[in-house]
Amino acid sequence: MGEGILIRVAAAVGTPVYVYDAETIRSQYTMLRTALAGVPHRLHYSVKANANLAVLNLIRGLGGGADIVSGGELARALRAGFPGQDLVFSGVGKAERELEAALNAGVGLINLESHGEFEVLRKLAHGRPAPVLVGLRVNPDVTTETHPYTQTGRAGMKFGVPLDQVVPLARRVAAEPDLVLTSVGMHIGSQISDGAPYRAGAERLAGVVAELRAAGIDTLTSVDVGGGLGISYGRGDGLDPAVFAAAVAPLARATGLPLLIEPGRFLVGNAGYLLTRVLYHKRSGGREFLITDAGMNDLLRPSLYQAHHEIVVVEETAEQAETAGIGDAGDLVDVVGPNCESGDFLALDRHLNGARPGTLLAVLGAGAYGFGMSFQYNSRPRAAEVLVDDGRYAVVREREGTDDLMRGETVTPAWRDA
Ligand code: LLP
Repeated sequence: MGEGILIRVAAAVGTPVYVYDAETIRSQYTMLRTALAGVPHRLHYSVKANANLAVLNLIRGLGGGADIVSGGELARALRAGFPGQDLVFSGVGKAERELEAALNAGVGLINLESHGEFEVLRKLAHGRPAPVLVGLRVNPDVTTETHPYTQTGRAGMKFGVPLDQVVPLARRVAAEPDLVLTSVGMHIGSQISDGAPYRAGAERLAGVVAELRAAGIDTLTSVDVGGGLGISYGRGDGLDPAVFAAAVAPLARATGLPLLIEPGRFLVGNAGYLLTRVLYHKRSGGREFLITDAGMNDLLRPSLYQAHHEIVVVEETAEQAETAGIGDAGDLVDVVGPNCESGDFLALDRHLNGARPGTLLAVLGAGAYGFGMSFQYNSRPRAAEVLVDDGRYAVVREREGTDDLMRGETVTPAWRDA
């Protein structure tokens, strides 16, 4: 996507604004499907990466299903036009009302993560016209080289059913007339850049499938290998989809079952830009700060995971170009947000030639876990979202206003006797 369109969108819609490039989403989708051409599989886009309705609709149009983790994501997926049967419902803590909504929507697969959840679902499934299709998310006890907060596949974490509990739980599911065990799966983490943990996890899952079959459970119709495919954020490499395909293909061959994949970031991460304008410049204690109109409440990843996002100068006005920019002397600058938190930054120690108050910046790689993790701290309304396609743009979520900040709140409590 060219700079021109980013400049025009920022001028028309204001900043901060998220901009998504439809063509990048399509090409990432095609790249992944092509890499997996020799492996029977179905793709379920992980809604949490970017839950914008227009993005969901775009991916649905490409032929994907969706992976959801809450009743809210269920509602979004349905609104975007996914049929219930194309949805996989994952998540470690699905509440009863969320499970009930999923059953009412005819969700194609519910991945259970605990005995307790099984008990709840068993009761809800009773008396339904058709049996409920269930998977077990296994914790395969594999380690990934990612940020600790995005690891999920090791023993001792809250995610998945521990390996030694899988067969007993599977037997309980299989014994229920209202449930059918159609899948076992894993999701081992996020932003994974190497094939080894997938290969290790896939081997464990192949072992689980063999154990289940030996236990007389022959209802499996898929194996779910989750998402987690890493992308390049400018530093470091992403995961080559061919490497991913080679790591998980043996699982499909060994079991004779198609794979489910749940990519999120891979499809949308590098399709997204957060546009923000520099408000002010400050020099303090030997450090240079550019204070922008977007902060941690708009893009949390740098603050929460020390995640690296490239930032580029998109627009220098002619007037600006005549004076030296803050970073022109080669100084390193911190790009910080307006929130009242010292941990509020978008980037530390960067060279940003030409940047000064008024400059439009683009934060790259902001399409995944960007807007979706944004919040209203400091009572800052959330940014607008824009989709760009074929040289055109559309506002696909309006910028919030102050009314949105106070929705459902009251100045005068309506007291009730307790
Ligand atoms: N499937 C399940 C069950 C998941 O929990 C996730 C992500 C995915 C699929 C998709 O993972 P992906 O392909 O996008 O890596 N907020 C963090 C990432 C958290 C990922 C949570 N689960 C970040 O900003 O890096």
